[in-house]
Amino acid sequence: MCGIVGYFGKKDAVKALLDGLSRLEYRGYDSAGVAIPDGDSVSIIRTVGKLENLKAALSTKNIKANMGIGHTRWATHGRPSEINAHPHRSGSIVLVHNGIVENYIELKESLEESGYSFISDTDTEVLAHLIRSLYRGDLFSALRDAVSKVRGSYAIAVIDADKRDRIVVTRRDVPLVLGVDDINGEYIAASDIPAALNITRDFIMLEDGGFAQISADGVTEYNPAGEIIQKKITHIDWDPVMAEKDGYPDFMLKEINEQPRTLMDTLRGKIIPDEGKIYLGELEGLKSKAGELERIVIVACGTSLHSGMIGKLYIESYAILPVEVDIASEFLQRSLPLSDKVLVICISQSGETADTKQALRLAKKRGAKVAAICNVLGSAIASEADYCIYTHAGPEISVASTKAFTSQTIVLLLFSLWLGEQRDVLGKKAISEILNDLLHIPDKLKAIFADQENIKSIALKYIHAPSFLFIARHYNYPIAFEGALKLKEISYIHAEGYCSGELKHGPIALLSDNFPVMVYAPAGTVKDKVFSAIEEVQARGASVIAVISEDAIPPSQCSDIIRIPETREELSVLLTVVVSQLFAYYAAKGLNRDVDKPRNLAKSVTVE
Ligand code: F6R
Repeated sequence: MCGIVGYFGKKDAVKALLDGLSRLEYRGYDSAGVAIPDGDSVSIIRTVGKLENLKAALSTKNIKANMGIGHTRWATHGRPSEINAHPHRSGSIVLVHNGIVENYIELKESLEESGYSFISDTDTEVLAHLIRSLYRGDLFSALRDAVSKVRGSYAIAVIDADKRDRIVVTRRDVPLVLGVDDINGEYIAASDIPAALNITRDFIMLEDGGFAQISADGVTEYNPAGEIIQKKITHIDWDPVMAEKDGYPDFMLKEINEQPRTLMDTLRGKIIPDEGKIYLGELEGLKSKAGELERIVIVACGTSLHSGMIGKLYIESYAILPVEVDIASEFLQRSLPLSDKVLVICISQSGETADTKQALRLAKKRGAKVAAICNVLGSAIASEADYCIYTHAGPEISVASTKAFTSQTIVLLLFSLWLGEQRDVLGKKAISEILNDLLHIPDKLKAIFADQENIKSIALKYIHAPSFLFIARHYNYPIAFEGALKLKEISYIHAEGYCSGELKHGPIALLSDNFPVMVYAPAGTVKDKVFSAIEEVQARGASVIAVISEDAIPPSQCSDIIRIPETREELSVLLTVVVSQLFAYYAAKGLNRDVDKPRNLAKSVTVE
């Protein structure tokens, strides 16, 4: 759950490393460090806390170097401290690591027996000593031999402080990409693409178990067997400003506001609305099996899980196929029978979430076909699935997921319509009507953004409430969950999401004067039932923030009203969720929270 960077080139390595790390801070930010050549050796500079502290420490030194490695940490073994921060060193071996060395205790014991002593509480220090113990002058061979003894996940960048002529990298089960600019002689290894965009848009997606050496001569890539392989360069269209804040105060607000565009990016090339056509070329291999599918299991975590809950409703109503949705970590504990008549859909923005990845592997082992819905190109989940539909929402930097959710939901909608057609339960006319309505969503979102001041003032009114309830029904029920998750994770206000039909079965006991309850009640088949829930809530003196369609007559005495443009019921989630995102954002800002980097959270949860 950390970010690593390695730079080799003709420019200022300190700047390149800090630029890269600042774009990886979303992966962890409890400490950071770099190792940079300094005279005949390397200097290791490490600080606790955010990257700003490392920048300040480096600004007092005047180090000029053309290579180095860097790390931003999210602690798994050993508390955040300077001694536990990376890079770690053993003799001339200096490295940074993302992942977990599962057998570090046994490795540590055997290294201690050989005379190595440990100064940190990390699993990573084992790697430094292990590589040193195997080093006979060839860093690449030592790294290969070392990782062959390691169980667990890793992306490693290692240098020899005495030679400083190359960076050797490898990865297993966590991401690592290599940015290549042969013209300017600049090379960068990083945990994620945005970290390298200032340098290049040409990337080598290092294969799982693969290795690479980066030196002044360029990048040499090796397969897991250690054989040199032909480099395959992938050109990434994201330009550096796409990964920057674009004038917004935070990535989160930027990403919320990007949604009218990202939704169109998700749809691009996939639909001809007037003809009711959906192209999901990625699913070509599934076409012949679609009629035989007996059920679908959707597996994901957090916000991605909530989009999966909506996907279930889409698939059940458009493709008439039973669907269950499971939290990835729970799926791993179940003895759920699967077969090739079951499709498991793994949803993950990062494509690296450990539980979802393990669920994917388990599903495949049990004979199911697996489709992935991912945002990050070449990520583990995308690569390991039998089929993968990318959401094309662009880099999501803010820890709280926003634009990925709406893009995932749209992919699930398209998938359900596609499946309905393959299974002969949905005609082109019906598909065409839905797609045409979908195309109006970006404009409707703009109408919500135009009402941001209203949402902001309501959010600010309630920031001192100790607790919130979010309720809704049917399609919007997952939005009640998502609204509560968004609010709690970035504002730290306690919040719970409930189905409004469940109120009387327990949570209504919470309600008393001024207890804030956000109610999603857009136009649709369940609107009247949700309006009745509003009456019940008001009768207990609670404050209702009603999210209703533009022309709806609200139940009397709603404390606050947020109006959204009218759309078909199943698409209303794409609007109500954006209200929740903005509401959480402004509440968190009102409380002076760091919305992009909420406490205790990291963007990619790459450990179980
Ligand atoms: C919430 C949030 C998390 C993620 C979850 C899954 O805002 O971001 O709940 O949705 O950790 O992450 P991915 O989608 O990358 O698998």
